[in-house]
Amino acid sequence: MSLVEDNKLVYRGYDIDELVEHAEYEEVAYLLLNGELPDKTQLRDFKQELTRHRAISPFIRELLAQMSENATAMDVLRTAASASASEDPAEGDNSQDAEYRKAIRLTAKLPTILAAYIRRRRGEQPIPPDPALGHAENFARMTWGTKMHPRAVEVLNAAFILQAEHGMNASTFAARITAGTGADMHAAVTAAFGALKGPLHGGATDGTMRMLDEIGSPDHVEAFVDKAIERKYKFSGFGHRVYRTEDPRAKHLRRFASELSRTWQGPPYFEIQDRLARAIAERRPKMSPAAAEKVNVVNVDYFAATTYTFLGIPADLGTSIFALGRIAGWCGHIMEQHADNRLIRPESEYTGPVGKRWVPVAER
Ligand SMILES: CC(C)(COP(=O)(O)OP(=O)(O)OC[C@H]1O[C@@H](n2cnc3c(N)ncnc32)[C@H](O)[C@@H]1OP(=O)(O)O)[C@@H](O)C(=O)NCCC(=O)NCCS
Repeated sequence: MSLVEDNKLVYRGYDIDELVEHAEYEEVAYLLLNGELPDKTQLRDFKQELTRHRAISPFIRELLAQMSENATAMDVLRTAASASASEDPAEGDNSQDAEYRKAIRLTAKLPTILAAYIRRRRGEQPIPPDPALGHAENFARMTWGTKMHPRAVEVLNAAFILQAEHGMNASTFAARITAGTGADMHAAVTAAFGALKGPLHGGATDGTMRMLDEIGSPDHVEAFVDKAIERKYKFSGFGHRVYRTEDPRAKHLRRFASELSRTWQGPPYFEIQDRLARAIAERRPKMSPAAAEKVNVVNVDYFAATTYTFLGIPADLGTSIFALGRIAGWCGHIMEQHADNRLIRPESEYTGPVGKRWVPVAER
């Protein structure tokens, strides 16, 4: 579905630099699910389908209401995605056509679920989706009503596109392993949610905000980095398994973070980030060669974290915004897996003992 090489990310033939400049998220979601960009009619129909499925059922509304107020956004999204299998009309049908429809339903509903969660945390009633609005705008509207940041729609649209797909990353791999057993799309998406949550993957978005809060001020950066190197701390938002020089998504998010920071009234996160990146770069010679290579790359999560924060998204919700974008990529991969399936079963090398004899419990 995509080419991931150092400083290069291509979705189904299209460089993300092109897509982020010109596309709506709906066009990219269509591209990932169908392999080609939609023409005018296809895009209109696709948007209509998303519109038709944005509202959540009384069952999911009740589930959200019953979940603990302390549940994290990722736990809520994962649970709701899993639970929605039980009301999906094509549950158990792994045909391409049925999965395409499930992908649309999941893509349409996740923003509604997350917005309802965000409003509940603020003690506010949910705002229903508006059929006149597109994907990013609906999420912004359901989250903030009319009091959204003036750049929210455009920036969220771009962020959803940048996060939509990324080859065989951990969450997508989890989805494909699950789909590879013949399990259905909801099972595979639920597995993907579980993997995305971790701090070494999508959880690094929320981890970045925690790190910036811990640093607290630009003046504390250098001392923080010196101590961090001593204790082999992993800086959230740095390092990548594939990219060696640049994560091609980071520059776009840095541009948004930089722009939005100018009107941001809170802590000087962007100043801390820039000084932190400089301080880490200067201290690379003090690190092991492997660590020096890893911290050379600022990854997607670093500036996504502040971009979302500056739009007014609470610091612990960055990873869940990531998931709203990634759902299209996950679903595309699940369809690809099911279209030509074979069980994924890596072998592991056992290094423990063999030949031990059973000893009754009283004699152990
Ligand atoms: C992305 C990541 C998981 C890739 O990890 P990896 O390819 O498995 O690399 P390893 O964890 O084996 O690390 C290799 C070395 O680099 C160091 N390292 C890796 N990422 C580091 C980071 N962000 N900060 C400091 N040191 C880092 C490790 O400590 C290790 O050092 P050592 O050899 O001296 O023990 C890793 O860079 C990381 O944990 N980054 C922070 C979390 C993050 O931003 N994740 C989002 C990725 S998009």
